[in-house]
Amino acid sequence: MGKITIAIDGYSSTGKSTVAKQLADWLEYVYVDSGAMYRAITLYAIEKGFISETSFDSDKLIKHLPEISLTFVKNSEGKAEMHLNGRNVEKQIRTMQVSEFVSPIATISEVRSKLVDQQQKMGEGKGVVMDGRDIGTVVFPTAELKIFMNATAEQRATRRYKELIERGDAVTYAEVLHNVQERDTIDTTREDSPLRKAKDAIEIDNSEMNLEDQFHIILQLAKDRI
Ligand code: C5P
Repeated sequence: MGKITIAIDGYSSTGKSTVAKQLADWLEYVYVDSGAMYRAITLYAIEKGFISETSFDSDKLIKHLPEISLTFVKNSEGKAEMHLNGRNVEKQIRTMQVSEFVSPIATISEVRSKLVDQQQKMGEGKGVVMDGRDIGTVVFPTAELKIFMNATAEQRATRRYKELIERGDAVTYAEVLHNVQERDTIDTTREDSPLRKAKDAIEIDNSEMNLEDQFHIILQLAKDRI
C-alpha cells in the first residue's frame, strides 16, 4: 500500500488534532502537530522576555532563532511530546498565556520559514498527517488529501474551555471565546501564509458532527487516495 500526505488545516480549536491523531494511529502514519512548534517558540519568547503584555521585540527573537531546537519525543505511552532545547514543554505550551501570544509570533516570516523547513523534512517520506493553518497551502501544496475544518466560534470555544477546565486552568468561557476569535483574525489576515482553504481542500464543518462520524468520513477520503 502506498503512503500519502494528509494536510489538515482550519480555524483554532476545530478538533483538527483529535482527528489527525486518530487517522495517523489507524493508518500507522506519523502525526505532526505544527501548532505545537509555534507554541514552543512562543514559550521561548515569553521566557526570554521578548514578548509580554506590554512589549514585543521580534528582532531579538529572530536573532535567537538559530538557538532554538524543537523535537517531538515519544513518552512511555507512545504519545509525541514537544521538547524545546531538550526540555519537555508539552504542558507549558497549552496554557492561555501561550495561546494569547502565539498568533503574533506566527506572523514573523523568519519564524515561519524555520518551522516550514523542519515540517517539510518531517514529511519527506510521506506517511504523515500534519495539522495547522498553512499545511495544504504552503508546507505540502501537493498533499494527496487536504481537509479544511470549520465550526462556529462558540462551538470551538466551548470545546477548548472544557479542555482547559479539565486540566485545572483558571479561565472563563468569555476569555477563551475572545482568544479563539482573536487568533482567527490574526491567522487569516497576516501577510505571510494566512490561513486559507487550499483550492483543492475538502471543507468539513463539524459544528453538528460527532467525532466518530467525522473520523470515518476523513478515513474514507484517505483510503480513496491510497
Ligand atoms: O493549532 P494551534 O491552535 O495549537 O496553533 C496555535 C497557533 O499557531 C495558531 O493560532 C496560529 O497562529 C499558529 N499556527 C500557524 N501555522 C500553523 C500552525 C499554527 O500559524 N501551521
